[in-house]
Amino acid sequence: MCGIFGYIGNSNALKIIMNGLRKLEYRGYDSTGVALLVNNKLYIKKSIGNINTLNNKLHYDNHLSILKQANIGLGHTRWATNGKVTVRNAHPQVDYTKSFSIVHNGIIENYNDLKYTLLQKKYSFKSQTDTEVIINLVLEHYNGDLFNSVQQTLSYLRGSYAIGILCKYDTQRILCAKKDSPLIIGIGNGENFLASDVYALLPYTNKMIFLENGDIAELYKNNIKIKKQDGTDKELNICVIQDSVNINLSNKTQYKYFMLKEIYEQPDTIKNTYENLLNNTTQIIMKLNNIQKIYILGCGTAYYAGYVAKFWFEQFTKIPIEVDIASEFYYRSLILNSNTLVILISQSGETADTLAALRFTKTKQCISIAICNTFKSSISCEATYVLYTSCGIEIGVASTKAFTSQLTALFILSLGLGLQTQQITKQQYTQYLDELYQIPDKAKTILQNIEGIKKIAKVFMRKKNVLYLGRYINYPIALEGALKLKEVSYIHAEGCATGEIKHGTIALIDNTIPVLVILTKGKTYKKTLINIEEIQARQSLAVILTNNINTSLIKKIHYVISVPQTIELLSPILNVIPLQLLAYFTATFLKHNVDQPRNLAKSVTVE
Ligand code: AGP
Repeated sequence: MCGIFGYIGNSNALKIIMNGLRKLEYRGYDSTGVALLVNNKLYIKKSIGNINTLNNKLHYDNHLSILKQANIGLGHTRWATNGKVTVRNAHPQVDYTKSFSIVHNGIIENYNDLKYTLLQKKYSFKSQTDTEVIINLVLEHYNGDLFNSVQQTLSYLRGSYAIGILCKYDTQRILCAKKDSPLIIGIGNGENFLASDVYALLPYTNKMIFLENGDIAELYKNNIKIKKQDGTDKELNICVIQDSVNINLSNKTQYKYFMLKEIYEQPDTIKNTYENLLNNTTQIIMKLNNIQKIYILGCGTAYYAGYVAKFWFEQFTKIPIEVDIASEFYYRSLILNSNTLVILISQSGETADTLAALRFTKTKQCISIAICNTFKSSISCEATYVLYTSCGIEIGVASTKAFTSQLTALFILSLGLGLQTQQITKQQYTQYLDELYQIPDKAKTILQNIEGIKKIAKVFMRKKNVLYLGRYINYPIALEGALKLKEVSYIHAEGCATGEIKHGTIALIDNTIPVLVILTKGKTYKKTLINIEEIQARQSLAVILTNNINTSLIKKIHYVISVPQTIELLSPILNVIPLQLLAYFTATFLKHNVDQPRNLAKSVTVE
């Protein structure tokens, strides 16, 4: 996913755009660039690396004094899809006459065919990107009317796009268009803004227009016009973003990285989620009738949240349920119909694999519920129903508070469905909720005792491989713990079902590979103790994460992470927090930028 920011007004466009790009850097940070219009001339400045790299480059640019005069411009942060990470492939891109400039987030599937046609017409290209093809198509169709040339160009494109376009012959407006990739207009006084998400606009305005698929917008200083792709006018649907998207949540405050801040927000965000969702969930559940099968779909961390939730739905509803990786689901031969409920989990609401799975299930008339953290995102708009986790903007690429908020939302949903289908009693429903309400304080206890976790991180940072083991409802937490470590420390980590290790993986074990075992009071406890003995017998470096340290075995373990007790069904929400911290400290001891891990982006908007 990439980040787009545009400005038109009376102020210093460069300064505003650079600030906007800093708020979008979490979306992609391979390369970055700006396009500015000054006295009918387009200035394009780009660099590989993050915003600071571009800022330093601009500081020594001999056009800087001119650039500061610009009142209209576009900026872009890139996560590379078509074409390597080079300055030439960075956005903004220009047509070969350097009269038009474009920033783009998305993928044009037929760009090679379009490029071939233009090459036949003697067009020349400098980059490997699909974006450069778009802007040369705009030139191809330009006859003095910028709107018309953009409108015609869009009719040739297959794929997804959020685009902003400047033209040196038409300096009073920015042209924007949206299809399957987010683009939001921010409304100012005598100025207007364009961005990929709310977070970048909030410092300037809370009045926003979420462009919809097919929209083509013209942004002037004092006016906004939106037309549908067929050219008919569209009414401006202005949303005022409530304080709940608290701008303070979007500053690191005393934390070095957003990831740590977001880990420490979890007691509050878990509480916010269940307080905000209890009523909404009931409303939705009342509309669900005769659900005969449930599928939970997601990617990465979101998939692991669904994997935990599978056990809850099995326990509370007795409705047959499966969880699947969104990018795998499409290939299965399944009976899907209007009695099938599909629950899609996505923090960003823009993950292409999950969005594709949603669209596929809609062709089968399935009912869908999106568990989402981003207001008016594609998945949240296209699902039948949406439950917003409302845990505030999550900037760290490694998902933490969104994960525990997803778990909270799914727990409430499964409980409510169990009550509605009379598989659990009102008393049981209340008892389970009471246990959930104690989780925030128990999470605080974990967050107040991190020295032991730091000691283990000092060990992990010197290792090449780590194993995470969990049984039953904590097996997905072993998978998530391994993913967290991999994502930010670049140390190879593998999650494995504890019972499964003796069927092959145990061959890996010797005194060089730490093995972290989740040992939780409940129906898996005794067998896990046996597995720990098996591991101990092979001189491994055992780490135990447990809510019951009163066993003789524990005394023989090198490292123990103790967490507060809760019911086994809710133990995943607590068990994941030390694993998030373990990944964070291991990576920061290795001097990694945990908010912007290499090769990753906050949302993967390509399949
Ligand atoms: C999580 O730490 C990862 N960054 C990644 O697995 C992420 O969970 C996945 O890409 C799904 O993103 P989404 O929740 O925005 O759909």
